[in-house]
Amino acid sequence: MENKINEKISIIAREITKGGNNVVFTGAGISTESGIPDFRSKGGIWDKYRPVYFDEFMSSKMARIEYWKMKEELYPDLIKAKPNPAHIAVAELHEMGLIEAVITQNIDGLHQDSGIPSERVIELHGNTRRARCTGCQRIISLDEVHRRIEQGDLAPECECGGYLKSDTISFGQAMPVEEMEKATDLSRNAYVFIVIGSTLLVHPAAAIPGYATTNGAFLVIVNLSETPYDDAADVLIQGKAGDILPEITKEVRRLKEHQCK
Ligand code: APR
Repeated sequence: MENKINEKISIIAREITKGGNNVVFTGAGISTESGIPDFRSKGGIWDKYRPVYFDEFMSSKMARIEYWKMKEELYPDLIKAKPNPAHIAVAELHEMGLIEAVITQNIDGLHQDSGIPSERVIELHGNTRRARCTGCQRIISLDEVHRRIEQGDLAPECECGGYLKSDTISFGQAMPVEEMEKATDLSRNAYVFIVIGSTLLVHPAAAIPGYATTNGAFLVIVNLSETPYDDAADVLIQGKAGDILPEITKEVRRLKEHQCK
């Protein structure tokens, strides 16, 4: 790995090891190495599909059929996806007590699969592994919905007459209040705030790193492409999360062993 990146990794590891309230904030880019496409890279989800807005979903059966068609096409990648080295490295930092929580825009559940307790994963955009009735709010497993769609029920409804929708936040849908409050609070109190794999373009989630920097957090960005926060970053590494995060965790371990001597 080039020297410049090694230097940056040492700086990040040193700040993390100071043991403040460090927070990780992730986007779809942390899951691409698990086989789940992101949204805005070339060939990403929004190159193939148009987002169905929440009000369309609620007012048009055709929109609900289109919505579930996209979900069904993404289903195989989702169910076989496993945490990749980036998820694992973040979970190891959490295990060492050096990461307070992970705030994620992702809906794939891979941070929980990597071993981070679910109460420490703040899912701003929900979780696509379950569906929810828009009427009675009942939760149904995604497998159950998948089975019904495979049997030809292309826009499944609940017995109460409500529409079944993946338990995720669509454009135009209200954000989860409790998760947003928790994420804002964590960010305001963060020492090192590490952004991994996000274009940081979609608000209100994209405002969250700003709460951290406004309160003096040490901002780290690990991302393959540019973000609006790049100039505000204390350390910016343009690289693959699966390569960079394990190197950070390795350096943190080395520093901690050194401290113990
Ligand atoms: N390592 C590091 N960065 C990566 C990797 C990788 N292996 N793969 C992709 N990236 C980067 C891309 O370059 C891009 O900058 O991750 C970023 C992913 O950005 P988006 O596709 O915009 O995903 P995200 O930022 O999570 O989108 C936010 O938009 O459509 C909504 O609800 C959706 O939660 C999503 C939100």
